[in-house]
Amino acid sequence: MTDPSPNRFRAALITGASSGIGAAFAALLPAPTTLVLTGRDRAALEQLRDGLAAPERVDLVVADLAQPADRARLIEAAEARNIDLLVNNAGLGAFGLVIENDPRREAEMAEVNVVAPVVLTRALLPGMLARARAEGRRGGVIVVSSVVGFGPVPRFATYAATKAFDLHYAEALATELADSPIDVLALCPGATKTAFGARAGTPVGPASLAHSAERVAREGLAALGRRPVHVVGGANLATALSLRLLPRPLIRRGVAAVNARLARRPKRE
Ligand SMILES: NC(=O)c1ccc[n+]([C@@H]2O[C@H](COP(=O)([O-])OP(=O)(O)OC[C@H]3O[C@@H](n4cnc5c(N)ncnc54)[C@H](OP(=O)(O)O)[C@@H]3O)[C@@H](O)[C@H]2O)c1
Repeated sequence: MTDPSPNRFRAALITGASSGIGAAFAALLPAPTTLVLTGRDRAALEQLRDGLAAPERVDLVVADLAQPADRARLIEAAEARNIDLLVNNAGLGAFGLVIENDPRREAEMAEVNVVAPVVLTRALLPGMLARARAEGRRGGVIVVSSVVGFGPVPRFATYAATKAFDLHYAEALATELADSPIDVLALCPGATKTAFGARAGTPVGPASLAHSAERVAREGLAALGRRPVHVVGGANLATALSLRLLPRPLIRRGVAAVNARLARRPKRE
């Protein structure tokens, strides 16, 4: 059994570390772990670094994951630190009908939620594997998916489809690497108390049902090496199973009706 404690890693790259779940991952990885933290918001990254124990172990890389040149710069920074944990966490959503959503945001979702994890993982895995084999240690890759990745979600179509990609990609990669010293996890949170909902334009919902970012990150680190997919919380697991098991036409019609009702509510701020 893999050591589930977060202090087994020497160096970690966390994308989307400037906010929410990514910042929670950074806070949970203890001082021996070198951190490569990335996002576009330099001030938020600096504030996070300055609040961490041992800020001198932190490299900040300001990068836009929708841009190939920035992704390449980030890969170089991660290679320089010999990372053994990659957390593909950065992501964005856009609630609304595809036809009405900003086309630039639709494309950015595909770039950040899909292309970036694929490019970073493919580039960094060979080095991670070689180091883990040479040193007799285990490394890890976490891809932050979502409970909405389990089914088609009208009015969240592009976002849910990117998260379905993340889920299937990580699940398949975990199987490909089952006999290797790299553990892979698709982490599937449901509603989580972060800036995500306001940024994605999701309607106001019952905040009490949302989990903390700290819980999501903690469960992700604990699940890595134990199973290939982890859904956070019992209610989200029930949703995920329903999305996977109920007849597809029923899901499409049911989710469309729920989200059409939700769309009449005010947006989050
Ligand atoms: N919150 C939820 O309810 C929820 C539920 C399920 C899954 N998730 C997933 O959890 C992950 C983290 O989201 P969160 O809830 O922590 O939301 P958040 O607080 O909005 O954080 C999103 C992070 O992604 C980064 N990001 C967005 N666009 C980027 C870009 N173009 N280039 C580089 N970085 C970019 C942001 O950094 P900058 O702004 O600094 O660029 C930020 O650090 C996402 O993958 C999301 O899909 C969230």
